[in-house]
Parts: sequence; structure tokens; C-alpha cells
Amino acid sequence: MTGDRNNWKQLAAGKEAFIFDLDGVLVDTATFHYRAWRRLANELGFDFSMQQNELLKGVSRMQSLEQVLTWGRMQQAGLDKEHLAEKKNAWYLELVERMGPDDVLPGVLAFLRAAKATGIRTALGSASKNARLILDRTGLQGYFDAVIDGNAVVLSKPHPEVFLRAAEALGAAPDACLVFEDAQAGIDAAKAAGMSAVGIGSGTALQRADLVVAGLADLKID
Ligand code: BG6
Ligand code: MG
Repeated sequence: MTGDRNNWKQLAAGKEAFIFDLDGVLVDTATFHYRAWRRLANELGFDFSMQQNELLKGVSRMQSLEQVLTWGRMQQAGLDKEHLAEKKNAWYLELVERMGPDDVLPGVLAFLRAAKATGIRTALGSASKNARLILDRTGLQGYFDAVIDGNAVVLSKPHPEVFLRAAEALGAAPDACLVFEDAQAGIDAAKAAGMSAVGIGSGTALQRADLVVAGLADLKID
């Protein structure tokens, strides 16, 4: 855990609402997105690295496609972008279809239950249009007072829209919200919304987070 228990206590003190990103925070679907985008890139005749993939995290499907095509120098190739995005999504959904309650990341359920037990309001703030499907498959749907997903927002992270909408739905002021995010675009969105942010993953990839931990299992709510 980067940062100590006191940092976490200070950060959580006085917060009324927790807003969770989905992919890579509650479930390990960030790796599924990577595999599906890579499959598309490989089919188009190029590849990209895990490091490059960090830039796709938190970003909408169509914006991710634009980035991938830029890496492959295929922006001018006259490709049917809608078709490519659908293809990637179909491959992604093949992986999602195999998911169940066991795919919830370690410590997530205990953390969500403890947050509820202490009266903290919870929301999902995800760029994904598949968010509700994943919540259903993994049994997480009952844990959130509000779900704001890729179908509900126009502007993609790092724009703060998704988190501001979540705060509004929960009736919480931005400075009373704490965001949990695995993407730099998501940390930037939280900061742009005037919220505190816990980074999930590695500190080098997540600049500007108030605290970085490997996963929610590292955090305890007293
Ligand atoms: C975000 C992921 O949560 O959702 C991105 O971090 C993904 O990688 C985005 O592109 C959109 O997801 P979907 O499921 O609508 O294609
Ligand atoms: Mg994420």
C-alpha cells in the first residue's frame, strides 16, 4: 500500500459518498478490454503495448478506437469505424459472458458492505456501455444507490461529467465525494470535478491520486 493507514483515514474522514469506476476497480475487465483491442489491432496488422494500453483505460469505446487506429497509422485508411468498434465489443462480450460472482475483485464486497453499514452513499461512475450487464453477471447490482454509465453521459473521462452526475444523483457535494479509479483519465476526471481520488494500481501510472493502493482489499472502513 502506497501511503499509510493515516492517509486513508484522513482522506475518508467526512466523506458522504463513494463513487466507483467499474473496469479494473471492482472487476478485472480492464484486461478483457486490452485483449479485445489487441485482437482488433493484430487483425489490422499491428500491435500495441501494455504501457500504451494505459491510455485506453477510462476512455469511451469510440475514443479508444481512434487512439488504437492512430497507433496503427490507420486513420486515413477509410475504415468503417462503427463496424470495428462493434467487432471489438463482440470479442469483449465473449469474455464478459463467462463472468460470474467469483470475478469480483478481492476485498470489493467487504468494502462495499462496510461503506453501506457506515451510511456512506455509493454510486458507479463508469464510461462503459456494458456496465449494467457486468453488474448483473457478477451480482454487484444491489450495492449502488446510483449507476451512471456510458449510456448516460456524453463526455468521456477525463471530463468530469460522469462523476458530477453521480454526485448529483447521490445528493452529495463534490468535495464530500471520494472516487476510486484505475485510470489516469479517471483520476483527472475526479480532480476536474473537485473530488478526492484513490488510485487503484501502481503509483507511477496514476499521477495526482490522493492515495494509491493495489486494490480495495488494502482499505478498511472503521
Ligand atoms: C471504461 C474502460 O470503463 O469503459 C475502457 O476503462 C472502455 O477501457 C470504456 O473503453 C468503454 O467501455 P465499453 O464497455 O462501453 O466498450
Ligand atoms: Mg477503469
